[in-house]
Amino acid sequence: MQALPGFRDFLPDQCAARNYIFACWREVARRYGFVEWEGPVLEPTELYKKKSGAEIVDQLFNFTDKGEREVALRPELTPTLARVVATHEREFKKPLKWCSIGQFFRYEKQQRGRLREHFQLNCDIIGEPDLASDIELVALCIDILRQFGFTEKDFVVRISDREFWTDFLREKNVSPDRWEELLQIIDKSGREPRERTAEKLGELADPVFALLKSGGKSEKLDKLVDGLGIRGLADFVAIDVGIVRGLAYYTGIVFEVFDRAGKFRAIAGGGRYDNLIAQLSDGGVSMPALGFAMGDVVLGELINETPFVRQKMEKAIATGRKIDVYVVIAKEERRADALAQIQQLRDRGYRVDYPFTVTKVARQFQAAEDAGAALALLYGDEWPQVKVKNMATGEQQLVPQDRLLAHLQAQSSLSS
Ligand code: HAM
Repeated sequence: MQALPGFRDFLPDQCAARNYIFACWREVARRYGFVEWEGPVLEPTELYKKKSGAEIVDQLFNFTDKGEREVALRPELTPTLARVVATHEREFKKPLKWCSIGQFFRYEKQQRGRLREHFQLNCDIIGEPDLASDIELVALCIDILRQFGFTEKDFVVRISDREFWTDFLREKNVSPDRWEELLQIIDKSGREPRERTAEKLGELADPVFALLKSGGKSEKLDKLVDGLGIRGLADFVAIDVGIVRGLAYYTGIVFEVFDRAGKFRAIAGGGRYDNLIAQLSDGGVSMPALGFAMGDVVLGELINETPFVRQKMEKAIATGRKIDVYVVIAKEERRADALAQIQQLRDRGYRVDYPFTVTKVARQFQAAEDAGAALALLYGDEWPQVKVKNMATGEQQLVPQDRLLAHLQAQSSLSS
């Protein structure tokens, strides 16, 4: 029996890598003043049908539950966030800066960088129309990737403005009910043959290609880049009107993050969705909003392919796994004394391990080394003294057992 296609088993090494990613995400989001929240993994299918757009609806993991409800595993968080904010808006001061880490499900064709489940960090700012919040959000996205050790040579944030395209469609007298479909075609244009896009766009093909080629001009985007420049982050961004985003709800600035070499799918994507909350509350609550999500799959691949970043992660994982103390039980008569001591050490927060059954002393020291223990405590003939061995230097010291805790507390290399 294997996991379903597109689903992953996380063995300890993979789990450690995933947790490292989560820790970096949390660390930087907190630095920016974001607070964590969570929503349900199962939602009414209707929520996505109404709000996410055709592409995601085709990829839903949906079914009818035992109460005859049409439900779907969440493919993204934004519609849930809009629902929650529309309901609880009065309880919080604006702007809200909310982040969340969770698992998402899309029935996609499995390929490099795209699975049927993935984890995302979502960061959203609610209730702020000013461009300052767009700048802050993009800066956060950049700083998260910098936290892993990536530089401007490794990734680029491609920034665009949906208004650029909606203005264009309005100018061409295209009826608004065709906008979503056309925006999706333009969004996909970079990933499919030109003739295919031209066929779908019909008479709009030539002007669209001309705009994509010229790059267009936008004062708003220039201001955004300037705002990032003040923070020393301008080298991480590029204006690219080809970024439209596949999701239906975006209304303004949109962006996607790619590796510089262009090897992978997007690492992260987001933008402004000023109308979604109003739509979900039938106009009851209207609030500007913007956000982005970063996935763990492409990010994990990019970490593995970037030597410095990968080494940084491996070092952090190895350090996080180290224990403080390995208790070597050289004489079985001392096991009870050793266990009493282990309990006390663990109560004080030390990471402690020991052998469950009678084991050769040499093997116990090997286990201490394998676990990265800073100290080994040997319970044997010296009792009521305990032999304390510094595993790094090999230095040994006899310490009376009633002074052991004080002795360990004086050691700065231990975690407690
Ligand atoms: P999205 O672009 O659909 O945006 O997804 C965000 C990121 O999630 C992608 O850039 C990618 O890294 C990752 N991702 C998406 N689908 C998969 C997949 N099948 N396998 C692996 N990774 C995947 C959203 O979801 C928006 N709700 C983001 C947002 C938040 N906009 C405003 N706030």
